[in-house]
Amino acid sequence: EDGGVTHIKRFKGKSFSPMAPDDFESHLRLVNTANYTEKDVFVVAYPKSGMNWTFEIVNMILRNSSEYFPNIPPFLDMATPSMLQSVFGNADKPGLIANHYQPQFFPQAAIKQKVRIVFVYRNPKDVAVSQYQFYWKLKGFGEYKNVSFKNYLKRYLDGNVPCGDWYSFHKEWLDLKADNQDYPILILCYEDMKVNLAENVRKIADFLEMNLEESTLLEIARKCEFRTMFQHKNSNLPPEMHMATEIKEHIFYRKGEVGDWKNWFTVAQDEEFDRHMDPLLDKIDINIRYSL
Ligand code: A3P
Repeated sequence: EDGGVTHIKRFKGKSFSPMAPDDFESHLRLVNTANYTEKDVFVVAYPKSGMNWTFEIVNMILRNSSEYFPNIPPFLDMATPSMLQSVFGNADKPGLIANHYQPQFFPQAAIKQKVRIVFVYRNPKDVAVSQYQFYWKLKGFGEYKNVSFKNYLKRYLDGNVPCGDWYSFHKEWLDLKADNQDYPILILCYEDMKVNLAENVRKIADFLEMNLEESTLLEIARKCEFRTMFQHKNSNLPPEMHMATEIKEHIFYRKGEVGDWKNWFTVAQDEEFDRHMDPLLDKIDINIRYSL
């Protein structure tokens, strides 16, 4: 009925990143061997919550420059020994990597070194729509084309999607922060970033202890505004994007709006979603904004 989606990979009963190798256990062993330091920065997000956007900002801040990152960000989910070496092997430069790990899979070696974590979240309705518009574009994920939005939404609420259900992913990360008050984790909100990007760029720079000129901060905010970024990324498609996707566009940049879910959810679906999600959201301490 749902088009027979088979791309849900599980380890220890949990759905992990679809980008990670099937042999997740060996993969986790590998990512535990890298040479992490407390200067390294991990951008963490549930899929389609603004990870690439946040990565771009963090990268600019760390390099004290407003130049765009020319490639697809390195993803820990797809780490190879040579990628880990190139990202984390420089004594004079902090490593920066993106990933979709739940805390239980996050490399313990990195936690031990107290790597800095920048966590970004987005309202779960827009995330559902963004995911639905995304997976089918990936090479090898064509089966997602046959899933109706109605069925995707059902899978999403059941946690039968990559990286499991929205609530558990966030609850686990927020618990980790609550249980380790002095651990360096910055929690960002996609909708807040849409409202005031410069303020959030400043917040990230402070967290990373990067003392940037005001003009650089503002230039970073300007260049990371959706339209500017969309245009730049689509006219400078990294070659690896062609290999990974079914279409000739930069699939990490689509609409970049708050509230696109209103174009997708029926009233009944919205009510069903709230009935399911509202009691869960009451249990976590973050502000969710479905519109601006
Ligand atoms: P939409 O599909 O709703 O457009 P991720 O990077 O975690 O995969 O998230 C992708 C989502 O972030 C996409 O959402 C994408 O358009 C949006 N996005 C990317 N860059 C953005 C920006 N500069 N401002 C706002 N949203 C952005």
